[in-house]
Amino acid sequence: MLRKKLIAGNWKMNKTPADGAALVAELVATVGKQTDVDVVVCPPFTALDAVAKVLDGSTVKLGAQNLHPEASGAFTGEVSAPMLRALFTTHAIIGHSERRSLFGETDAFINQKVLAALKNQLKPILCVGESLAEREAGTTLKVVQTQLEAGLQGVSKEQAAALVVAYEPVWAIGTGKVATTDQAQEVHAFIRGLLVKLFAEPVAQRVRILYGGSMKPANAPELLAQKDIDGGLIGGASLEARSFVELIRAAAAIK
Ligand code: 13P
Repeated sequence: MLRKKLIAGNWKMNKTPADGAALVAELVATVGKQTDVDVVVCPPFTALDAVAKVLDGSTVKLGAQNLHPEASGAFTGEVSAPMLRALFTTHAIIGHSERRSLFGETDAFINQKVLAALKNQLKPILCVGESLAEREAGTTLKVVQTQLEAGLQGVSKEQAAALVVAYEPVWAIGTGKVATTDQAQEVHAFIRGLLVKLFAEPVAQRVRILYGGSMKPANAPELLAQKDIDGGLIGGASLEARSFVELIRAAAAIK
């Protein structure tokens, strides 16, 4: 297989350090040595340190849910890429739809974050996706194209090799409404095509494109079997070891 599957858990604003450590202890015990699938957990900032300690020595990687583009300074309440690196974070979710819609993040700001992550050797998981109104208006591909191209401005071909893209249709997040495999694969293939234009074929073929939005053990096998669906960005089902492990196993079963 050209691209190893990647299963990432976005815990959002859930779990104390103790709760997070307990969850990853279960993950480490069950899938902490497997190498068939790349696995990343993204706890809230406050649990990163406790989770990092439990993950140490396992194959499960650590991600943040956000970062600020500047390295340091007067940005009350923010956390920078070098601070995350110091906690052994390797990935960072950037431009999640909740950040875009609830916290007013623009494509330009998200682009600065992507560049800051790459500069600090953090792998960005850049999220894109349309709202229900945009899908119904037939503008899905246009919205995704704008978010992707704006988010990746100034990213070099060399840097793009570290990139992960997550397609998360906003209407499928936390709603139990999952995109059909055809709907998801169509957008994933479109994103792959845009990546080819931006970074040329060899790099574009290496970038993992994750699906996110109500992915569960029951619907994952069909989604993960699609040609351009290289994994999942999991919200709700990442908060319990059992369902998250089932998703990892579903990804491992795809040959
Ligand atoms: P759910 O899996 O809870 O729908 O959340 C998806 C998501 O937003 C992951 O980033």
